[in-house]
Amino acid sequence: MNTPQTTILPEGMAACIVIEADIVQARLDEVRRACKQMTAILETHRSRQPEAQLGLAVGFGAGVWPQLRRDSAEGAELKPFRALGNGLAPATQHDIALHIQSMSHSANMLLALDVLGAFGETIKVADETHGFRLYQDRGYDGFVDGTENPAGDARPPVGVIAAPAADAGGSYLLLQKYRHDLKRWNALSVERQSAIVGRSKADDEELPGEERLPDSHLGRVDLKENGQGLKILRQSLPYGTASGEHGLMFIAYCARLHNIEQQLLSMFGETDGRTDLLLGNISTAISGSYYFVPSQERLADLG
Ligand code: HEM
Repeated sequence: MNTPQTTILPEGMAACIVIEADIVQARLDEVRRACKQMTAILETHRSRQPEAQLGLAVGFGAGVWPQLRRDSAEGAELKPFRALGNGLAPATQHDIALHIQSMSHSANMLLALDVLGAFGETIKVADETHGFRLYQDRGYDGFVDGTENPAGDARPPVGVIAAPAADAGGSYLLLQKYRHDLKRWNALSVERQSAIVGRSKADDEELPGEERLPDSHLGRVDLKENGQGLKILRQSLPYGTASGEHGLMFIAYCARLHNIEQQLLSMFGETDGRTDLLLGNISTAISGSYYFVPSQERLADLG
């Protein structure tokens, strides 16, 4: 069985909790045992609140994954996140990622408490971010986010490694937090904002090819390779506090780390020297890390 973990394929969830942590090396066996309990913990919460449609994924960073996989072909593309664009995208790689999402923030919280309880002192939490969907799927920037995300049957081939690969059911995950400067953004005209994103603001239409700036966000991430679109599955949600920091918790899954990485290289000026206009005008990347998210069966039976 190659069942993907349960945050990859669902669409339109209302809230998420993302936790990144480092593993206490001497306690790796206990981490393996905690991972074995994840399916049962998730099922307990799902049966209690089926309407929340809870999902949970546990992923591992390159520093620890070679000790947990059973075969070097599993998650073979995984590497540590490296800083890009002369530090414009900082690297904050950790060992383990916990991604919880559902229709209910309170259901997420209760599940997160039990998940962290199972790991106990075997991990040291470095960051915890709570995300939530805003009206009409818009970001704080006012633009609809997720329109071109693969939907329905198009999702598994993009997001999940297919059989008969050794790591079938697995997926690569990028976590990257972006802080927004809304004062700066809101001082721009709607026309300028649309040029920066590459879509119109109110009706969310793609700008015609000849109007699309090469350093607009779409100009940077809507990429083709050998005539094929480089697709990823985005599960990002806005995060933050009203009086303090807020922005986008960027969360993307893909069957190939390559697709995610090519989009990042393009956004941060590592392909042709151009950087994404979002970066100078609203968003600053403040974290970045890659994880391999094994199938549910492999998570319960780590090497
Ligand atoms: C500052 C953070 C970001 C913001 C505010 C943002 C916002 C948006 C918006 C408004 C769209 C257009 C609607 C849609 O199709 O979803 C979009 C599209 C997209 N974004 Fe982002 N994004 C951010 C970061 C990223 C990153 C880091 C990646 C990749 C690693 C990425 C990949 C994509 C892709 C693949 C599309 C669809 C392109 C297409 O096929 O038309 N975005 N983003």
